[in-house]
Amino acid sequence: MGAVSAFSLSRSVVGLAVSALVLAGCGSSLGESTGSETAEGRSGGKVKIGLLVPLSGVYAPLGEDMKAGFGLYLDQHDGKLGGREVDLVTADEGEGPQTGVPAAQKLVTQDQVTAVAGVVNSATALGLRDFFHESKKPLLVANAGADDITGSRKSEYVWRTSFSNGDVSAALGPAVAEEAKGSVYLIAADYAAGKEMVTGFRKTFEAAGGKVAGEKYTPFGKTQDFQPYLSAIRESGAEAVFAFYAGAEAVSFVKQYKQFGLAGKTALYGTGFLTEGGVLAAQGTAAVGVKTSLHYSTELDTPVNKKFVADYQAAARKAPTVYAVQGYDTAAVLDKALAEASGDSGDALVKALGAVGSIDSPRGAWKFGADHNPEQTYYLREVRADGDTAVNAVVRELD
Ligand code: PHB
Repeated sequence: MGAVSAFSLSRSVVGLAVSALVLAGCGSSLGESTGSETAEGRSGGKVKIGLLVPLSGVYAPLGEDMKAGFGLYLDQHDGKLGGREVDLVTADEGEGPQTGVPAAQKLVTQDQVTAVAGVVNSATALGLRDFFHESKKPLLVANAGADDITGSRKSEYVWRTSFSNGDVSAALGPAVAEEAKGSVYLIAADYAAGKEMVTGFRKTFEAAGGKVAGEKYTPFGKTQDFQPYLSAIRESGAEAVFAFYAGAEAVSFVKQYKQFGLAGKTALYGTGFLTEGGVLAAQGTAAVGVKTSLHYSTELDTPVNKKFVADYQAAARKAPTVYAVQGYDTAAVLDKALAEASGDSGDALVKALGAVGSIDSPRGAWKFGADHNPEQTYYLREVRADGDTAVNAVVRELD
């Protein structure tokens, strides 16, 4: 979608969401007016699914990939999930809860979807948890890693097909402690995900004997010039850096890291979002040598992944990303659950979600744990040049 249409979509969604909020605030129980009682939502007919992804803001490319992954699964299954034709309603999450929460509320109260899938930003997911819990509507989080939504604020109605911030970052800590002999500087975007990524990494890194040289959070969605932060890294004398950035911020950070002269001298580590997909294409060779932890790489040498990469490439005309895989897997989970659910109520669907079993994914097989979060393999990846392009080569599995 071009910038102009993304902008007008987000404007119209915000307008509609305001009316949905007014409706929701009028004292009526949300459960009374949900899709389970409409003709369309009834078991056996069409099923209406809401897809909430950023189509504007710094994470818009991530949202596009997630949408393309979900769309590929639908295309491969005659537009059906659980044997039922899907009416997919897409809404713009924007840059966080201010836009994402009303957009999700509109999907539930006005569009009367059976379930909502998507959500890239942790702050949006945290802002949505109570709404889905109270309206007894299933929310399938297809990216946002906020620890609490499958931790202390776990809900029967909230399921995650991606990762938790604490898990994906903790996977890297021991590897960095082993490789970096000196201290490591921690830097991340200043919001829920950045804080949790640093906390998760720090825990296993320090437990493995690693030393921290400094810790800094940069204004989320507003930082274009990383030079002052890169100076602080240099002055700290750190031997290596751990970073969490994604989307447009990841492109700027890694390019400026190289321009500033740190690349090749101060090893750069991060969670895989730092070098993923379109981000890596934009960074090009500036990213060579960056090492990350993630539950996916296009380079995974399995028949399921090879087919997925080829099919996605043919459909989207670009290589897939972890966001595309998470969108694809979310559709696969819904496919299995809708096939087994006894009716369209939130309770029937979450019961079926608890019984989907193993998902044979491009990332490798995974299943939901008791906390509704994936039990999956994390990989150590290293950016290597492959002709004119750069790829996330898989070094090894992480414990
Ligand atoms: C998050 O906010 O949880 C988040 C966003 C983008 C990523 C990863 C995590 O790439």
